[in-house]
Amino acid sequence: MWLEDWLHRYPGTLIVISHDREFLDSICNVTLHLEQQQIKRYGGNYSQFEVQRAQQLALQQSAYEKQQRTVAHLQSYINRFKAQATKARQAQSRVKALEKMELIAPAHIASPFTFEFRTPDSAPNPMMVMEDVRCGYRAEDGSEIPIVERVMLSIQNGQRIGLLGANGQGKSTLIKTLAGTLEALSGHVREGKGLRIGYFAQHQLETLRPDDTPLQHLARLAPDTREQELRDFLGSFNFSGDMATAKIAPFSGGEKARLALALIIWQKPNLLLLDEPTNHLDLETRHALTMALAQFEGTLILVSHDRHLLRATTDQFMLVAKHRLQEFDGDLDDYRDWLLQHAAEQRAALKANAAGNGGNAGAAGNGVGAANGVDSGVNRKEQRRLEAETRQKLAHLKKPLQSRIAKIEKEMDALNAEKATLDAFVADPASYEPERKNKLTEAIRREADVNARLESLEADWLETHEELEQIG
Ligand SMILES: Nc1ncnc2c1ncn2[C@@H]1O[C@H](COP(=O)(O)OP(=O)(O)OP(=O)(O)O)[C@@H](O)[C@H]1O
Ligand SMILES: [Mg+2]
Repeated sequence: MWLEDWLHRYPGTLIVISHDREFLDSICNVTLHLEQQQIKRYGGNYSQFEVQRAQQLALQQSAYEKQQRTVAHLQSYINRFKAQATKARQAQSRVKALEKMELIAPAHIASPFTFEFRTPDSAPNPMMVMEDVRCGYRAEDGSEIPIVERVMLSIQNGQRIGLLGANGQGKSTLIKTLAGTLEALSGHVREGKGLRIGYFAQHQLETLRPDDTPLQHLARLAPDTREQELRDFLGSFNFSGDMATAKIAPFSGGEKARLALALIIWQKPNLLLLDEPTNHLDLETRHALTMALAQFEGTLILVSHDRHLLRATTDQFMLVAKHRLQEFDGDLDDYRDWLLQHAAEQRAALKANAAGNGGNAGAAGNGVGAANGVDSGVNRKEQRRLEAETRQKLAHLKKPLQSRIAKIEKEMDALNAEKATLDAFVADPASYEPERKNKLTEAIRREADVNARLESLEADWLETHEELEQIG
């Protein structure tokens, strides 16, 4: 959300590759689509692109069908008359028409990919219980590095939990502890009888073996299953034929993620622990995963920064922040508000800090500093450090605005210079000679464009200045 907000204010041109539709919708106004070795440009954000593309495909399909009818008609004419001398010339011209006709490709709708989770056999309830667990790591010298503490959690069968929290707060650490790949530093973790965890780690792709094929990966999990059955299963994840028996090293990130998901699904889990499973998936595969998860009958804990996926597949949220796990009472929009509020408070504190420090400099002289006695030296040093830090943070906030202003001013200067030349030309009676008519029309049109652009730049300039003043 921070990045989204920052990019909104970024004055330059931006090219972004992302599979996050809400993110794309919010920051892009042009969409380039790569398909079948071609790039196509669509005006508008992702949602608008989807609509336009669907319309285009429909149009293309009907144009194709229409053309196919014409082709068939011409062909039958040729077939009928090519033997008759009187009609031969006409038939010949139709042959030419047919040759010239550029064939429209049939609308190629990438075969929609779907998969589903297998229905779990049975599930314990509760599935897992954590009692006063401390999750974290051990340093080499054996000392503890606690990350999330005092975790009390009872996972009920059928719950669908979205795990929220900023980078580095400990979501993955908690999930690793639940999955059992990381031992709890203290406390009790109890698993229900018959629990089958399907765990997709944040760095899951690193657990795949690059020199092995998808088939070998799956066969390791199912040594006793017939190869054809494994191939069929892989086929349902779009690993057909050659791909099932090719080394996975050169596979794209998305292809590897798709394989990792297939391997999890094969194991028929009743509790899914998914830590950012969509990081590499393209929008179609994300869509397929979203649908599959929405229909999954087991229990789910999901870490994802994809708001669309969270909305569609989870119905309650928990938050990892400040070394604690707690229920988050609200939906994703509430979370967004919470984040913004949080950020605003931090900024306000920062500003207050800056203002306060400035004021204190005077106060220090009339006894406040002296009253602190021994501490005052340390305090002043700390204060200077804080002031420097605040200045730095403010400068950081101001920088994008300042560079935007500079950019606006540069463009305004260039336009003003051009405007002066145009004005002079239009004001000159000699410009109204008949042979200059075209040039004059062009100058007047350009003048209007320049004026309009200047007007919008000025508004932009004022707005940006206001924002800058607000920061202080
Ligand atoms: N093996 C490790 N040893 C020590 N500290 C670690 C280890 N792995 C992670 N950490 C620390 O634990 C903290 C939490 O990391 P974690 O990966 O759980 O965060 P996260 O909430 O999943 O973040 P993100 O959204 O970026 O995935 C971080 O400060 C990280 O540096
Ligand atoms: Mg993580």
